[in-house]
Amino acid sequence: MHNKYSILLPTYNEVQNLPIIIWLIIKYMDESGFDYEIIVIDDGSPDGTQDAALALQKIYGESKIILRPREKKLGLGTAYIHGIKHATGNFIVIMDADLSHHPKAIPQFIELQQKNNYDLVSGTRYVGDGGVYGWDFKRKLVSRGANFLTQLLLRPGASDLTGSFRLYKKDVLQKLIDNCVSKGYVFQMEMIIRARQLNYTIGEVPITFVDRVYGESKLGGSEIFQFAKALLYLFATT
Ligand code: GDD
Ligand code: MN
Repeated sequence: MHNKYSILLPTYNEVQNLPIIIWLIIKYMDESGFDYEIIVIDDGSPDGTQDAALALQKIYGESKIILRPREKKLGLGTAYIHGIKHATGNFIVIMDADLSHHPKAIPQFIELQQKNNYDLVSGTRYVGDGGVYGWDFKRKLVSRGANFLTQLLLRPGASDLTGSFRLYKKDVLQKLIDNCVSKGYVFQMEMIIRARQLNYTIGEVPITFVDRVYGESKLGGSEIFQFAKALLYLFATT
């Protein structure tokens, strides 16, 4: 069967990052020779991200760049769900649009998936050469803490639970989404917990997460609270 990779880029105020990330994705995907499309899910960014996306679509073509905007900021979890609905590939790649995830890892994900027929491949910052660059102590502590607590309580069998640079078989991702209760950022963590529960196979590729240069993170105190709530819920129910 012919494989096609739908790369989902959720954006909120990423006007400075979008042209570079798209250029890099196209460079690495064209070099690797895999068939792909890029789906931009912008939530009505006031900074003009959608105008940039439209200009990029004109440059690279409507079959490569697909625009599926939403009216207002509705959260990261539902942005993925929205994007998947429009994906024509049998594989889905999920990544951040702010250059924290380097597109050069996508072909590595694909090769590992093909070698072992994994249901999903997850980028990991916590194994081998993986790491985080540019985060302050507090942010590192939050990420490490969230991973540590989840490992302790749920034993998920994957090393990076809160990361969001992943490759999924599309039908597997759909099944996981149907089983997930959380929205927003916690989504990433719940997905990998559910994957383990449903006996899906998980491959891991070490990645370096580089903190954004342009724009700002949308993760705040309320997301940390949401995460803790979801973790306890999963602990109690799984
Ligand atoms: N469409 C849409 N709607 N996109 C969004 C929204 C939203 O409500 N919120 C965030 N995004 C987009 C951003 O524009 C970016 O491309 C990506 O989602 C990640 O958002 P950031 O705000 O940059 O996240 P972060 O860097 O703080 O957090 C990263 O690390 C976390 C923990 O390791 C992300 O990878 C998270 O997914 C991850 O959980
Ligand atoms: Mn970011």
